[in-house]
Amino acid sequence: MAPDPRLIELFSYYREGEMHGAGLLLRLIKMMEDDGDAQIKLTLHMAEEANHAWLWTKRIADLGGTPVQVSTGYQTRIGRRTIPRGVIDLLALTIIVEERSVARYKEHASRKDVDPETKEVLDKVTGDEVWHMSWIRGKLDEIAAAQNKTEYAAEMVEKYREVDREVYGELRAMEVAAYGGTPP
Ligand SMILES: [Fe+2]
Ligand SMILES: [Fe+2]
Repeated sequence: MAPDPRLIELFSYYREGEMHGAGLLLRLIKMMEDDGDAQIKLTLHMAEEANHAWLWTKRIADLGGTPVQVSTGYQTRIGRRTIPRGVIDLLALTIIVEERSVARYKEHASRKDVDPETKEVLDKVTGDEVWHMSWIRGKLDEIAAAQNKTEYAAEMVEKYREVDREVYGELRAMEVAAYGGTPP
């Protein structure tokens, strides 16, 4: 039986988001070369985001599909609206992106019709995202305090939260239009 194209598309969006997340971490690794503690955590964090992309890819392959191209996914839309310039900007953006992925994965996991294999992936990635959010938040606070930019950091978090709301609103509207309110 051919896999449900809606599921393949949905998991391709998740895969795309995770890959962009790994790319964001790679940028941070290059910008934070003088912070040994951050280098260790960023590398593990990046490896986990790459693994999340793999888990969604594997889910797609296990269903008998291949990933579909996602040209304007979540992070591409974020990137069109804002250009984070420094470490504080990027850390703030990372927190927001992580919060969104946790919220989305939890919402998906709570649906009644989720198959056990998909539920397993959702639970695994959600578990990792919780650690991601907390250590990035700690690092943002630490750097902002050291640079006397606590207020700026808070503003950046708020700014990205606003951008995220717009972007997720767009994607959600597309999803509802395509699937009639109950996405797969
Ligand atoms: Fe992730
Ligand atoms: Fe994450």
